[in-house]
Amino acid sequence: MTSKELRQKYLDFFKSKEHAVIPSASLIPENDPTALFTSAGMHPLVPYLLGEKHPEGKRLVNIQKCIRTNDIDEVGDATHHTFFEMMGNWSLGDYFKKQAIEWSWEFLTSTQWLGLDKNLIAASVFEGDEDAPFDQEAFDAWKKVGVSEARIAKLPKEQNWWGPAGKTGPCGPDAEMFYWVGDPKKAPDSFNDDNDLWVEIWNDVFMEYNKKEDGSYEKLSQQNVDTGMGLERTLAVINGLDDNYKTELFTPIIKKIEELSGQKYGQTAKITRVMRIITDHLRAAVFVIGDDKGVTPSNTDQGYIVRRLIRRAIRYGRQLEIKDAWTSKVARVVIDIYKEVYLELDRNTNFILDQLNEEEAKFNQTLEKGLRQFNKLKGKVTGHDAFNLYQTYGFPIEMVKELAKEQGVEVDQKEFESELKKHQELSKTASQGKFKSGLADNSEATTKLHTTAHLLLAALRKVLGDYVIQKGSNITPERLRLDFSHSEKLTDEQKQEVERLVNEAIKKDLVIDCEEVPLEEAKKRGAMGIFESKYGEKVKVYTVCDQDDNFSCEICAGPHVEKTGQLGHFKIIKEQSSSAGVRRIKAVLE
Ligand code: SER
Repeated sequence: MTSKELRQKYLDFFKSKEHAVIPSASLIPENDPTALFTSAGMHPLVPYLLGEKHPEGKRLVNIQKCIRTNDIDEVGDATHHTFFEMMGNWSLGDYFKKQAIEWSWEFLTSTQWLGLDKNLIAASVFEGDEDAPFDQEAFDAWKKVGVSEARIAKLPKEQNWWGPAGKTGPCGPDAEMFYWVGDPKKAPDSFNDDNDLWVEIWNDVFMEYNKKEDGSYEKLSQQNVDTGMGLERTLAVINGLDDNYKTELFTPIIKKIEELSGQKYGQTAKITRVMRIITDHLRAAVFVIGDDKGVTPSNTDQGYIVRRLIRRAIRYGRQLEIKDAWTSKVARVVIDIYKEVYLELDRNTNFILDQLNEEEAKFNQTLEKGLRQFNKLKGKVTGHDAFNLYQTYGFPIEMVKELAKEQGVEVDQKEFESELKKHQELSKTASQGKFKSGLADNSEATTKLHTTAHLLLAALRKVLGDYVIQKGSNITPERLRLDFSHSEKLTDEQKQEVERLVNEAIKKDLVIDCEEVPLEEAKKRGAMGIFESKYGEKVKVYTVCDQDDNFSCEICAGPHVEKTGQLGHFKIIKEQSSSAGVRRIKAVLE
């Protein structure tokens, strides 16, 4: 089965069960202060899991682009990826455990769909603890579809509970599905999750709880289902492959790396690992740079992660003796594999290739300088020196360590780590692949700043020009942060004018109106937003209404305040560069 067939089957199956197909959201989350990347299909859906109405209804299905950076050290094995596609279906207060499990089973085993061998499937359910009881309902549902009791494991929270993604938010017990990838004749009668030959392929999460600040759990107002099935892994399993990199999503990339290096995948364990890392990292970099909210390599936030991925790939490339402007050649292969599914990669091809070439040239330069610096250190590297190489010369940490090892010098690890901690502002949350239910922080303060961000974007367009679009936003209860396309520093006059316009809109006490309209209609009305949606899809449009000429009109999930008069006084506290062609404003309400 090809990846294209698998994606289509998944969507078709849930369409046949009356789910609306929604597009993948951007890899860069909206209004989420706590996460750099979208890391699961449910991530952009948090407001709806908490009860906001979704314009497409109560049953949704999609294939979401995801980035997880928490497992970066495991990348290099057969199954871990920084970027992956997650197939998922959702019930927003509609069907629940029994139905979700029956459909999962039907999709996996029916010959019309995946047609996996029923005798090679095992399952697990939550065993129960002081927070929530044993999941009898899920257990019974597995038995009913035909899984034998011995093949249904009862497991604790560590395994069978999903979320909240951060400290608070929607969460609940889950039910996982495993497929036996060993010799079919030797599939054990009972399931043991320690055995690696049982591969997890799907996770049905029953989001019926909300974890509160004090650590306690309360029942949510609605019972949700959130399922997630990794496309790459499932594709490998269906095709009887023990290595995701042997599927058609990866083989052309590996082939390119073989060509560039003159080495063979599988030749030695080390070469295999190195080729997987290069493949993984450049593929992830292509998707992040090529996202419509495209990110360029930099020293902060998402840009830092992209930089790290590219530089790590280059460093591993050196181990295979690949040199000279090569990352964009690999990127082109990645783009070719995905451009019909993720049209943004096609649209942004030149941008992706240029960014890679630029970053590669930059890194090669700093590498040379850094190496000269390193060689001067002669036999003694203090933690401070090591940190300096990392900070000033952009040496990846691992590289400093490796060089030190090669040359038989000691790095004062403790001192280095403590320097690093002090400086490393890179989202702790994202590096752990975690996110607080940032979208779910529906506190009054956040909601106010969210509405203010709409006013700010509108004011910027009025002052600077219509070409200004939002490139990112991040809102905490304390302040808003908005990234927008503009290449020069704002003058004092421009900043004052923007502040004046926003405060004027606040003073007028304008009404914020929310309407659900088809995407095409939203576009016609000139609503701002990312249009990666499919034709006919309904979206929410928030309008800050003013008599003749509405102040702002954006496609957005909400929530917002009802009237601008609730907002207070608006003040810009910082205006700075974010990345090439993108400026960043931090602002508060006083
Ligand atoms: N949220 C769950 C996961 O990421 C299921 O979609 O695994």
